[in-house]
Amino acid sequence: MTQILDISDLKALARRRVPKLFFDYADSGAWTEGTYRANEEDFTKIKLRQRVLVDMTNRSLETTMIGQKVSMPVALAPTGLTGMQHADGEMLAAQAAEAYGIPFTLSTMSICSIEDVASVTTKPFWFQLYVMREREFVLNLIDRAKAAKCSALVLTLDLQILGQRHKDLRNGLSAPPRMTPKHLWMMATRPGWCMKMLGTNRRTFRNIVGHAKSVTDLSSLHAWTAEQFDPQLSWKDVEWIKERWGGPLILKGILDPEDAKMAAKTGADAIIVSNHGGRQLDGAPSSISMLPKIIDAVGDQIEVHLDGGIRSGQDVLKAVALGAKGTFIGRPFLYGLGAMGKDGVTLALDIIRKEMDITMALCGKRNIADVGRDVLADYAR
Ligand SMILES: Cc1cc2nc3c(=O)[nH]c(=O)nc-3n(C[C@H](O)[C@H](O)[C@H](O)COP(=O)(O)O)c2cc1C
Repeated sequence: MTQILDISDLKALARRRVPKLFFDYADSGAWTEGTYRANEEDFTKIKLRQRVLVDMTNRSLETTMIGQKVSMPVALAPTGLTGMQHADGEMLAAQAAEAYGIPFTLSTMSICSIEDVASVTTKPFWFQLYVMREREFVLNLIDRAKAAKCSALVLTLDLQILGQRHKDLRNGLSAPPRMTPKHLWMMATRPGWCMKMLGTNRRTFRNIVGHAKSVTDLSSLHAWTAEQFDPQLSWKDVEWIKERWGGPLILKGILDPEDAKMAAKTGADAIIVSNHGGRQLDGAPSSISMLPKIIDAVGDQIEVHLDGGIRSGQDVLKAVALGAKGTFIGRPFLYGLGAMGKDGVTLALDIIRKEMDITMALCGKRNIADVGRDVLADYAR
């Protein structure tokens, strides 16, 4: 096997080890995937400022996100169906994040439940909430996250209706996979994945099944998820969710300065500049291209985080330089997980940490807290 040196190496390995319908689920964006590509491409357009003969000893990437200490400004983004990239994926990724000293965010649409993840971790993780029409279910989810001592609620705002992703439609994506000849073939060609999946009973949406009133089996689950995302979600809803939750709140999916201003008024602790990894509004700008405008609009009022297109530690550093207090990674950790389970998530984090550390040093900085626009070539005087 070739050496794994960067995130694209992990991606290549995940492609070989994860059944196509789930690999494609991660590696896809809406419609033309233009925004998905732009998220990555726009990072490459930002150039760094090389400095020399600066003391580069004793470097530190440690900082805080919403006041919580993190070993580097990176959190694992909430991703649905993570337990289909690898058996018990959410539990493994949460453990890897905990050992690394960074936040793990569990998705509402996860395979492992809030309680599953709580049972294998010792420190608090974050929980991402989708607001469903069945309000009782939502209230109950918030209460379950509280009971599990989650230390932040990440409220996703950009999925009131689902963007269309062609690969998922063509593959007939479902969790667990249906036993059609196509799905059976996709699984049979990934025997390692199958063996591990047979060793767990966590193969469907465990935050939902047994908790939402009308969901008792798989067929009712499909019907329920298809119609449950609430298209009427509004800024008013943020108020009652904030009140019911009563803890640190992060608003995810802000891409416009006007929305950022509205978000800052809610009293939330942070926003995530995000276009859902290019999976929702295809044709929207990349997250990194919108970051400076959003920082200008609200940077002095609310903590700003960013996700979308981060594939290296250099990308994290660029986001921090442009004003993000923290970043989230989705696909990089999913590729690590699909490639090598928990060790793969740790490896993805190691790769990003090392790239960030060396880049910071070569830009003449020793502490992530000192990284600002002056490390970027275009912004330097
Ligand atoms: C496979 C996959 C599933 C996702 N599921 C969710 C989800 O359940 N909830 C959510 O808020 N965001 C979800 N997202 C979006 C991520 O939280 C994040 O915004 C995005 O992945 C960041 O882009 P990146 O993958 O380029 O790092 C998902 C992303 C991917 C790739």
